Amino acid sequence: MLAANWKMNPTSAGEAAELVKAIADAARGQQQVTVAVFPPFVWLLGVLELLEGTSLQLGAQDCYWEPSGPFTGEVSAAMLAGICQWVIVGHSERRAMGETDEQVARKAGAALAAQLTTIICVGENQEQMDAGRASEVVAAQVTAALAQASADDSGRLVLAYEPIWAIGTGKNAGPEHAYGMMRLLRETASGIIGERAGLHLRVIYGGSVNAANIESYVELPQCDGCLVGGASLKAEEFSAMIRSTAGVYATAGS
Ligand code: PGA
Repeated sequence: MLAANWKMNPTSAGEAAELVKAIADAARGQQQVTVAVFPPFVWLLGVLELLEGTSLQLGAQDCYWEPSGPFTGEVSAAMLAGICQWVIVGHSERRAMGETDEQVARKAGAALAAQLTTIICVGENQEQMDAGRASEVVAAQVTAALAQASADDSGRLVLAYEPIWAIGTGKNAGPEHAYGMMRLLRETASGIIGERAGLHLRVIYGGSVNAANIESYVELPQCDGCLVGGASLKAEEFSAMIRSTAGVYATAGS
């Protein structure tokens, strides 16, 4: 799968429409890759209308765990479930604003309970990486985030390994490092929700993925796809990424 995390972009409904149309065109006619776009909340409904008759799926970039109530500015997983199939929780850009492991676990729990396919992001920062603590940090994040998950959720569970030092920096993780960490994500999750469920869930990589390096990830045996930020805003580049991913999957499947 490829997830297009638009973050706080584009800044107008017109640009969002243009981008989603271009991505839909690129995804048309191929069945190998599930492509999901994650616009800002405010563009979700407009984009949803444009998705009719396309193969694209829709997701939100965050959610709140309570279904409704006095939570100014929040959008619940339950509300999103009526509009989209996917949600991202625990992105490092939200953790950097103070989101805790416990909050990520509550968001993931609510999202899974609302039947949303849920991408849980984890990843170490540069300092933790340099100190040789990447595995320890990431395993702890996965363990905390899955506090409310069960084996029944595995089909809707996606773990994204997103090293913070690789996000938006152009310094993508080497495929070997990414492979080891994605294996760790799956093993850690298996220890919590069970071996079979662990095989079933998806594990993806994110962090400076672009048209030039995407194949090196999607061809990894542990990798079920990529979470793409900056490059997903460039229609031509993201279209090329869909095509090359479909090519890798077609070769692997033949
Ligand atoms: P990037 O962002 O592709 O711009 O590095 C990835 C992400 O934050 O999900």
